[in-house]
Amino acid sequence: MTLLQLLTQRFEAALAAAGAPGAQPLVQPAGKPEFGDYQVNGVMAAAKQLKMNPRELAQKVVDHAQVSDLVAKLDIAGPGFINLHLDPAYLARRVEQALADPKLGVPPQPKRKVMVEYSSPNVAKEMHVGHLRSTIIGDALARVQAFLGHEVLRANHVGDWGTQFGMLTAYLLEVKQGAAGDADMALNDLEEFYRQAKTHFDADAAFATRAREYVVKLQSGDPEVLALWRQFVDISLSHCEAVYRKLNVQLGRDDVRGESTYNDDLPVVVNDLRQQGLLTEDQGAQVVFLDEFKNKEGEALACIIQKSDGGYLYATTDLSAVRYRHNTLNLDRVMYVVDARQGLHFQQIFTIARKAGYAPENMVLEHVAFGTMMGEDGKPFKTRSGGTVKLVELLDEAEERAYQLVTDKNPALSEATRRQIAGKVGIGAVKYADLSKHRTSDYIFSWDSMLAFEGNTAPYLQYAYTRIRSIFGKGVALDANAAIILTEPAERALALQLAQFADAVYTVARDAVPHLMCLYLYQLATQFMRFYEACPVLKSEGSVQQSRLKLCDLTAKVMEAGLDMLGIEVMEAM
Ligand code: ARG
Repeated sequence: MTLLQLLTQRFEAALAAAGAPGAQPLVQPAGKPEFGDYQVNGVMAAAKQLKMNPRELAQKVVDHAQVSDLVAKLDIAGPGFINLHLDPAYLARRVEQALADPKLGVPPQPKRKVMVEYSSPNVAKEMHVGHLRSTIIGDALARVQAFLGHEVLRANHVGDWGTQFGMLTAYLLEVKQGAAGDADMALNDLEEFYRQAKTHFDADAAFATRAREYVVKLQSGDPEVLALWRQFVDISLSHCEAVYRKLNVQLGRDDVRGESTYNDDLPVVVNDLRQQGLLTEDQGAQVVFLDEFKNKEGEALACIIQKSDGGYLYATTDLSAVRYRHNTLNLDRVMYVVDARQGLHFQQIFTIARKAGYAPENMVLEHVAFGTMMGEDGKPFKTRSGGTVKLVELLDEAEERAYQLVTDKNPALSEATRRQIAGKVGIGAVKYADLSKHRTSDYIFSWDSMLAFEGNTAPYLQYAYTRIRSIFGKGVALDANAAIILTEPAERALALQLAQFADAVYTVARDAVPHLMCLYLYQLATQFMRFYEACPVLKSEGSVQQSRLKLCDLTAKVMEAGLDMLGIEVMEAM
């Protein structure tokens, strides 16, 4: 059990024994040292129900609490809080156990089948910054789920279908038949290709007609147009993969299940909704009216499932995807890591999916929403000329800037080593800057703050890691049989932080909040630095040195595992 789970369980029992069965204690980290390590709330609410004096009930809870194996001291504060001081010997035991455990003291959870849907760019265009956020956050969430022992499926729900592919395939054919004739070259810059196709479309009536014909041909499965479409999608996906590789993101071709894969199922979904009596015809279109959502006039909102011309929509595909994810994949939880602006869309999809029985109650569907990445001018992030920023170029710049930093800091390292470090630092900085903000808030993309060696940044944590690791290079050896003894306050504080790792991972997984992992690691690094100042390691001796080395060792391991869950790499020197 995690520390919080254990304490909660013990105080639930203590409340019951004190005459308040069923009362829920709320155990929280105390926040201030004078409140001890944890504070137990919930006694006051229970006392109110029982019409008891809260301090009296608190006293009874303290008397009945069976916590002598974990707790050194309990005291009652204010109107009925219980402040709890953990026993250092117990903390030491937890650190020992964590060190002996490949999962570092994080208990595996009952195995669930979890899908994280993330990245999901539209392949007609280049990936943009909105997809950067989804990619980084989604990948971290998938890693956290995997760490907890769940079966994780990653889904890249790319937008690979729609009328624009008529124009794009028609233009691709033109390019291939032309003098230059190299499709790869032409598609090197998708934005540019799109622009050219559009210009052509607007200027050349014959081409525009052909483009429209291609839409029809594509939809009816014409082999020639389909082959062009496949080639286009293929090249575009390879652009995405270049970004994934650079980002150290675990998304591959096997994870791609684009919108087009649901095509054959769309009429089936529409029929099914009709049979279930959920569809209404509205101005020729097939819609589902949802009483749960009202428009400004107070009328039920209509979600369009099929247009009057027979065409299907974004929502239709998503309904089909939910059905597939239940019927075929039998998932327990699906996390959609998508821009917050699509919130209403997902609420509608989830509501319809429940009504239609595509997702049973026990299948968790959640929109893991995130805000917008802003430029330093406070406006949505763009190039200086106002265009979309090519992600590959952004990441190249991160590496280049990190290379300058590493070179300033450590010019003696070889060029190759500096490049390698710069890759990890630059990419780590971009990812961490994103992950460390609460995902639903907008944030300002700033090179200087993300690459700072001080503060809540990736370079700070990576550097802290190298400091710890360097201790072990200095002729000291760890004795696995040595005991951990916590005497100094800084030792105790570090051990407490280490013992809280499991709760941090659990919360991040439950609420899909990677910023809390960042905060945890930042606090860990801070506690470590304090410990390292106050408690000499290399200059100490014997059992004291061994105990401190063990704290260092676990700190490094937790730091590495925590950063790995964020998709950030560590190194031995920087
Ligand atoms: N392709 C969409 C976009 O770029 C994101 C897809 C989100 N996922 C979904 N199941 N609708 O905006």
